[in-house]
Amino acid sequence: MLTVAIVYHSGFGHTDILARAVAQGVGEAGGTPDLLRIAPEQTDFADAFDRIARADAVIFGSPTYMGTVSAPMKAFMDASARPYFAKAWKDKIAAAFTVSGSPSGDKLNTLTTLAIFAAQHGMLWIGTGQAPGNNDDLSAATEAENRLGSFLGAMGQAANDSPDVTPRTGDRATARSLGVRVARAAARWQAGGAQAA
Ligand SMILES: Cc1cc2nc3c(=O)[nH]c(=O)nc-3n(C[C@H](O)[C@H](O)[C@H](O)COP(=O)(O)O)c2cc1C
Repeated sequence: MLTVAIVYHSGFGHTDILARAVAQGVGEAGGTPDLLRIAPEQTDFADAFDRIARADAVIFGSPTYMGTVSAPMKAFMDASARPYFAKAWKDKIAAAFTVSGSPSGDKLNTLTTLAIFAAQHGMLWIGTGQAPGNNDDLSAATEAENRLGSFLGAMGQAANDSPDVTPRTGDRATARSLGVRVARAAARWQAGGAQAA
């Protein structure tokens, strides 16, 4: 069975909610999710690197802080120079999700940053593959899947409510679908590799 590592930081619990929705999607698609939450002051990532090396796919998650990834996420990224030089993550499937307070909040930059990070590692990027949610009916828009209309990765918006309230059901469904899509892509990639061997 294939494993999907979900590597993320969450300062106040909102990104954690999306990480769990992503994990649910991975499980529903027949994969095994491995949730790896980065701690605020973490500097030792050896265990995370070992688990990522064993994973078939990796989904990165970060809150959007000051228009980009959070500092703990960046610490993880900078520390990944060791697997980078060993090409340890090359040809693994990759994807990402983020949460911001504002509807935009400049969070596309967070996903772009993570996509470039994955590209530097030689990983294969998977977007949402989802059409934008129904924003014609504003009363229903907050519950629509991919309501924020992101193709590069899953986006959520949390405002200042508790993680019990936000990100709301539409954003959780978007994250779940990303987990399903990545697990299926990893399975196809694995099967194709076996055929090519
Ligand atoms: C230091 C800091 C910077 C933030 N910067 C932004 C930002 O640039 N854009 C935005 O929309 N929200 C911003 N926010 C709001 C967070 O993205 C939002 O509260 C998110 O839900 C936090 O996720 P978390 O609970 O997983 O930490 C910021 C929050 C903090 C604490």
